Amino acid sequence: MQKREELYAGKAKSVYLTDDPDRLILEFRDDTSAFDGEKVEQLARKGMVNNYFNVFIMDRLAEAGIPVHVEQRLSDTQAVVKKLAMIPVECVVRNIAAGSLCRRLGVQEGMDLNPPTFELFLKNDALHDPMINESHVETFGWAKPAQLARMKQLTFQVNDVLKQLFADAGMLLVDYKLEFGVFKGEIVLGDEFSPDGCRLWDAQTREKLDKDRFRQGLGGVVEAYEEVAKRLGIDLPQ
Ligand code: ADP
Ligand code: TMP
Ligand code: ASP
Repeated sequence: MQKREELYAGKAKSVYLTDDPDRLILEFRDDTSAFDGEKVEQLARKGMVNNYFNVFIMDRLAEAGIPVHVEQRLSDTQAVVKKLAMIPVECVVRNIAAGSLCRRLGVQEGMDLNPPTFELFLKNDALHDPMINESHVETFGWAKPAQLARMKQLTFQVNDVLKQLFADAGMLLVDYKLEFGVFKGEIVLGDEFSPDGCRLWDAQTREKLDKDRFRQGLGGVVEAYEEVAKRLGIDLPQ
């Protein structure tokens, strides 16, 4: 497969066309962004760690029957993925209260959410990813109702698989964000699943092992991601 020109450079990843019109190369950079690009820093090894992490998680999801875009890891920081027509809507499930939910509703961080919540956000940095609802998605044509229903079903299926996976490795999956796209008429999970887009706490101490360490200036960001990878048995290069 031949790498061709850059299609898009996001805040943390770059996307390249290939000689196959149905395939892209996703490159994970060390750039780390928070607050919709307001805080950006380079963290050594982060691109590599997230690439290995994402391929590992997407493989587990595929084994559980979830359609995913990742086909294979290409190098330490790159993976081959299906070229999706991305839907600009972020699906967020929360098992435990944290982040914007606490700010919005005044609930205590750490409260168990039963059943887990499902929220939608518009992917738009300039507007700071505003929260939206199903009627906005339909009215503005971001996705058809059947597509949105499928995204919701898959987002909860991901929760069943990953809550258990992280629990088995001594961690709590607090919340996470997923992005979907369309490939040959089917809704497919795209983008990434890594500690950049989810919250993970140590099950015993509730220590934060995700991008909140960067958002909150706690330090040890990549060290925490590598600790999570180690607990999952992901073999990272030295
Ligand atoms: P952002 O756009 O939020 O700054 P990134 O730096 O992570 O994000 O850039 C990756 C971009 O690639 C995102 O816009 C994401 O929606 C898009 N993307 C992820 N997976 C695919 C895919 N399989 N096909 C097409 N676009 C994708
Ligand atoms: P929030 O508490 O900031 O709304 O985020 C909920 C979860 O979704 C958290 O794990 C971070 C993730 N997320 C992103 O990765 N990118 C986003 O743009 C949004 C809105 C959430
Ligand atoms: N994912 C967004 C960003 O990269 C929001 C965040 O993580 O705080 O800026």
